[in-house]
Amino acid sequence: MKAPARLQALIEEGLIDSVVRQLKSGKEADVYVVRSGDEVCAAKVYKEANKRGFRQAVDYTENRKVRNSRQGRAMAKRTAYGRQQQEAAWQSAEVDALYRLAAVGVRVPRPHNFHDGVLLMELVADDHGDAAPRLNDLSFTAAEALQHHAALVDEVVRMLCAGVIHGDLSEFNVLLAADGPVIIDLPQAVDAAGNNHAPRMLIRDVNNLRNFFGQYAPALLATQYGPEIWALYAAGLLVPDMPLTGRYERKPGAVDLSAVLREIEDARREEAERLLRMG
Ligand SMILES: Nc1ncnc2c1ncn2[C@@H]1O[C@H](COP(=O)(O)OP(=O)(O)O)[C@@H](O)[C@H]1O
Ligand SMILES: [Mg+2]
Repeated sequence: MKAPARLQALIEEGLIDSVVRQLKSGKEADVYVVRSGDEVCAAKVYKEANKRGFRQAVDYTENRKVRNSRQGRAMAKRTAYGRQQQEAAWQSAEVDALYRLAAVGVRVPRPHNFHDGVLLMELVADDHGDAAPRLNDLSFTAAEALQHHAALVDEVVRMLCAGVIHGDLSEFNVLLAADGPVIIDLPQAVDAAGNNHAPRMLIRDVNNLRNFFGQYAPALLATQYGPEIWALYAAGLLVPDMPLTGRYERKPGAVDLSAVLREIEDARREEAERLLRMG
């Protein structure tokens, strides 16, 4: 097909050779199948901020790291430059998360490049080499549902051990590749340690998986993997591939560790601000 304008620049730079077809026009991005050398890749073209959905809500961007204080001040002021910086931070968050997660062995598409608001990455493929379907496009036996659920809970744990929470994990953002599920769509990924909403988001992500696979394996609907995982993480005990029970009981009188950690972090921040004020 004729390359859309946003991909023309990447062709001129030699990053891609041709555009094969459009894969999806999503809420927040258009995704194309492109050819780059002998590899077939996915190119995700981000939409402009004003055409996007809900995910820049303050929950997600709280405490997101910015590169320097000028950028941070501009973002806070919402000037044109500020909005442009906000936009850049949003788009590069997905690339950053992909590199970070691929490095620790989480099943995400391998990132290749990020250029001019376009993310070039591995095409997640089914066993014919075609773009893999989303979980939402498929149905499962109870045994398959249990297997994929367990595999994805393990991926969530691995991500959290790397300090990352997906933040929009659901059957729409998991593809079923020839060799199992792959997690995609991470521009809203949340820094687990620096965000007060982290436990809520982690639990919501895990509950989305439970509710989806629970349609096929109803026993899953009674599980509590989300709170169990967060409690282990907050206690500093979470490691990849650890056995989980799916059960969670908040013991009466038990210390709420995540609340304690939040207090410590708040105190640390106040002290840092105080020192800053004192020059
Ligand atoms: N690396 C990839 N390989 C195969 N298909 C992809 C890939 N990335 C995205 N897609 C397809 O494009 C759709 C939209 O991508 P996604 O990253 O979820 O963006 P959004 O939902 O924000 O529009 C996905 O549902 C999936 O079908
Ligand atoms: Mg998506």
